[in-house]
Amino acid sequence: MRGFHPALSAFDSLPLAERLFVHARLFSAPLEELTRHVKGSRLVDIGCGHGVLVSLLAMGFPDRSVVGVDPDARKIEWAKRSIGRFSNVRLEVGTVEQLAQREAAQFDTVLVADVLYLLPPAQWPAFLRACRALLTPHGRLVLKEAENDGSWRAKKALLQEQVMVRLLRRTHESGAIGFEPRETLHRALEETGFSLRESVSLSHGYTTPHVLFVADCA
Ligand SMILES: C[S@@+](CC[C@H](N)C(=O)[O-])C[C@H]1O[C@@H](n2cnc3c(N)ncnc32)[C@H](O)[C@@H]1O
Repeated sequence: MRGFHPALSAFDSLPLAERLFVHARLFSAPLEELTRHVKGSRLVDIGCGHGVLVSLLAMGFPDRSVVGVDPDARKIEWAKRSIGRFSNVRLEVGTVEQLAQREAAQFDTVLVADVLYLLPPAQWPAFLRACRALLTPHGRLVLKEAENDGSWRAKKALLQEQVMVRLLRRTHESGAIGFEPRETLHRALEETGFSLRESVSLSHGYTTPHVLFVADCA
């Protein structure tokens, strides 16, 4: 059943509220689909949160090394207490820009799941350029966002995120909460040195208008 993946067992030692959070995260977002588009073995998840995607990427793949980075120290603490026990996982508090300064061209795939909507679109190019800097010349970006397609799904998802970020303060905000049309992301990717391979809707079966973007270094 969706949401009950073996990779969630890594979080069994966390308090109930955090366990429920990670189960709900995997139930409500098609994170497993992102793992199917990964290239190479050196992977980094930017804005990893508790690390559900890191767990999906690392568990059962000892030949991969997976780095998870997030500016929210609370979330990295939960991640360290769970997936931090995997020998092929490294977790850090920080931003993509900080990591890119230290580890330029060290990764085969950069993954970003539901982070850009927390930044004003004017900051997307700098964020995406830092993602590009982390990648080898043949590297790949696997990105998931929700799109503003004017649907009831987009309105519901925006309301839900406003509650999570501003009311419950579960999510660290970086200056905005909002979804953009898919074309805004296409343009930002092309302008920052990526060649878009595909962008596909993953909203079927979900109440959020999820979109997956796969882009290679141009
Ligand atoms: C909705 S959560 C998604 C977490 C994780 N990617 C996942 O799919 O489960 C958004 C995450 O983005 C992080 N975040 C906020 N601003 C960020 C920024 N400027 N750079 C990187 N991550 C950021 C938040 O701390 C939070 O963990």
